[in-house]
This record gives sequence, C-alpha cells and structure tokens, in this order.
Amino acid sequence: MKINKIILFGISSIFLLMFAGGCALLEDENVGQGRKLFGYYCSSCHGEKGMGDGFNSLNLDPTPRDLTDSKEVYLGKQKNEDLYKVLSLGGGAIEKSTRMPLYKYTLSEKEIWQIIAFIRTLHSHDTGDIDFTKEMKIKPERLEGKSMKAGSEKFKKKNKRAMLMGKKAYKKTGCSGCHKIGEKGGTVGPDLTHIGARLNPAWMYKFFLNPQRMIKHVKMPNYGFKDKVAFNITYYLKSLK
Ligand code: HEC
Ligand code: HEC
Repeated sequence: MKINKIILFGISSIFLLMFAGGCALLEDENVGQGRKLFGYYCSSCHGEKGMGDGFNSLNLDPTPRDLTDSKEVYLGKQKNEDLYKVLSLGGGAIEKSTRMPLYKYTLSEKEIWQIIAFIRTLHSHDTGDIDFTKEMKIKPERLEGKSMKAGSEKFKKKNKRAMLMGKKAYKKTGCSGCHKIGEKGGTVGPDLTHIGARLNPAWMYKFFLNPQRMIKHVKMPNYGFKDKVAFNITYYLKSLK
C-alpha cells in the first residue's frame, strides 16, 4: 500500500514535470527573450503584463499605452514597422510624448524585434509573424566610446548658457518620465533634486553619452546624444545642489 502510493506519487510527478517542461518549451525563443527584455526595460511603466499599469505609471501624463488593447483596439491596427519605429526612436518620433523613451542606442535591432514579438502576444492582430531567420537590415547604432578629460577647462568655466540649454534638453528628452526633480517626475531612476552635490560632472557626462558603458545593463536609455547636448545636460544637473 505504502509502496503503491510512492510509485503513484513518482509517476504523477514525472508527468507534472513533463507538462511544465513542455509549456516552457512551447514559447518561441524570441518571444521568451522579448518577454525578459520587456520585464526589464518596459514593465516599470507599462506593467508586467503590458496593461499600462507599472509602478511608474502613476507619475506619467499621458499614461503609458495599454499594450493589450483591453479597452480599445489600437496596437492591433499597427504594422510591425510602426512598433519598430516607436521603440527605436521613441514617442517623439511619432508625435507622441517623449516620456516614451527611445531604445535604438540601448538595444540591438534583434532585441527590439524580440520585444515586438512578445508585445504581439498581448493583443490580437493580423500583421503576420516577424521573420527572425532573415538578416536584420537596420544595423544597431551604438555610440563609440568618447571620453571627456575629467576636470578639464570646459567643466571649470561656469557657463550659464550651457546650463539653460541643458535644462531645455532635459525637458525635451523626457528624462522626467523616470526621474524626479523637486515634486515632479517618475520614480524608475533616482531622484535628481540634489544630484549636483552627489555626482561628479565628468562621470555624469560620460554616463549620458553611454549609460550602459558606465553601469552594466542599466535601464536608463542611451539617447545617442551629441557631445554638446550631454555636456549641457551635465551642466544643468551639476547646478542642482
Ligand atoms: C518612462 C516610462 C516608459 C518606459 C520605460 C517605456 N514606455 Fe512605452 N510609453 C510610455 C508612455 C507615457 C507612452 C504614451 C505616449 C503617448 O501616448 O503620448 C508610451 C507608449 C508606448 C507605445 C505606443 C506608441 C503609440 O503608437 O502610441 C508602445 C508600443 C510602447 N510604449 C512600448 C514600450 C516598450 C516596448 C518599452 C520598453 C522597451 C517601453 N514602451 C518603455 C512610457 C514608457
Ligand atoms: C526609462 C527610465 C529612465 C529615463 C527615461 C532616464 N533615466 Fe536616468 N536613470 C534611470 C535609472 C534606472 C538609473 C539608475 C542607475 C543605477 O544606479 O543603477 C538612472 C540614473 C541616472 C543618473 C545617475 C543618478 C545617480 O544617483 O547615480 C542620472 C544623473 C540620470 N539618470 C539622468 C538622466 C537624464 C539626464 C535623463 C534624460 C536624458 C534620464 N536620466 C532618463 C532611468 C532612466
């Protein structure tokens, strides 16, 4: 009797394991990879399930798009290329809010398509599958490592103009989607209210040129800034003490 029970338990566990394993295997490899990337980079705003309800959504106006189309059909009507455009170039490129960041300097073309493949599982659509067997055409553009000499004359000279231009660039880029200065802004990244007192400007400058080079896999997007813009933003943040 006892032995029978053990055998029965053993057999059912094996079936359970096979079932669980089968489910994991059923998910397409690219969709699985896209799910992981989405969880890491996007869920703070769009929510784990893409409902537009991530913890940072409360800080955002407009709110992040509900990618499941639960209330209205929106993404279902868009072509894969439309999604590629907004993911790689950001909300600003489609005349939407820049609180939706751009990812073309942060993620490779393949990674962006993997995220799209995952998003496509969240709503119904008739746009066809993404072909991962063909070679990706749009080459990922990643910034070359350009560094700035720490403590150079540039940084020493007080430049009010750079500070004001930096303030504008900060606003235009949508940094406040993830960061607070004073009362306003998101909470995905650290509060920047007194950042000037905390961070070395040379470090900040390098960080803005290529965040992932300074902190591995950081969620902060690489915006592909020109040196000048990174410099101006550094100057603005440096003034926040
Ligand atoms: C800082 C918050 C934030 C993050 C992080 C973010 N988004 Fe968004 N996203 C938004 C907001 C806000 C909108 C709505 C913009 C609007 O309607 O003006 C949006 C809109 C979108 C849209 C709809 C675009 C359209 O056609 O209207 C898609 C698709 C999207 N995001 C996908 C993603 C993906 C995928 C990621 C991760 C790679 C991501 N988002 C990361 C805030 C964010
Ligand atoms: C999608 C969200 C997101 C957006 C948009 C974003 N950041 Fe960040 N940022 C982060 C995260 C997350 C960190 C935390 C890095 C870490 O310490 O791991 C960070 C870190 C930083 C830091 C370092 C802060 C510290 O305490 O070490 C600065 C400065 C900064 N961001 C400025 C900016 C600026 C300027 C912009 C706009 C050009 C911007 N961020 C846009 C998410 C974001």
